[in-house]
Amino acid sequence: MKKGKKLIVANWKMNPGTAAEARALFLATRRAASEARRVSVTVCPPFPFLSLFSRLSNGVISLGSQDAFWRNGGPHTGEVSPEMLKDIGVTISMVGHSERRARWETDDIVSRKAQAVVREGLSVLVCIGERARDENGDFFGVLREQIKATFSKVQRRFLSDVVIAYEPLWAIGKNWRDSASPSVVRETAIFIRKVMADMFGDEGVTVPILYGGSVGPENAGALLRDGDIAGFLIGHESLDAEAFAWIIRIANDA
Ligand code: 13P
Repeated sequence: MKKGKKLIVANWKMNPGTAAEARALFLATRRAASEARRVSVTVCPPFPFLSLFSRLSNGVISLGSQDAFWRNGGPHTGEVSPEMLKDIGVTISMVGHSERRARWETDDIVSRKAQAVVREGLSVLVCIGERARDENGDFFGVLREQIKATFSKVQRRFLSDVVIAYEPLWAIGKNWRDSASPSVVRETAIFIRKVMADMFGDEGVTVPILYGGSVGPENAGALLRDGDIAGFLIGHESLDAEAFAWIIRIANDA
């Protein structure tokens, strides 16, 4: 993931269902990415497609994983280690996505995973975000505690390999009209930076912040212009090759 460029990350989640569909989507995305020099595009497909794509990325697309385990080796059935991911060409691992946190992942587990990933020499995309907003602004406290716990095990010397994805749960999987507004995203990005500065000093402020939650071609431009963010983490619109190519072009022109 090249910092300085806009970062656009596709989270395909548990889609598509076959390798043939995944390959077609990957190639269409690669085409769009190759025309956007000012954008760094990362695709996070399901695990079974990762090694297929490591041969297809051609340096145009970075490969990301949707998760990584908190250690290398051992009796951990079904898990995938940072070492294995690095070996097949993955350069960034997402940890702490809300859809995983909703089922079993605690802040502590996410923090251990984040530290294991950066120790392996990979970048980590750490997902955070509040479940809901209240009028009193109590959610800011919830977010602060989540950030502190999620970064509790991450060592300062690895901060240059960290990217944060701010994904408020109330904005995920909706229509772009129900996404967070640019002003909400900006205000929250400033808050996240402040918490990171409290934890890590000046270096905490340099961690790029992406926004995710119902980003589409319709709202991407305004969010990049006024949201004070480095890019996006995109779910369902990344499964639509045309819509995703359009978002990449918007980011390139922004
Ligand atoms: P949507 O773009 O589908 O709202 O998903 C956001 C997300 O969860 C990406 O990780």
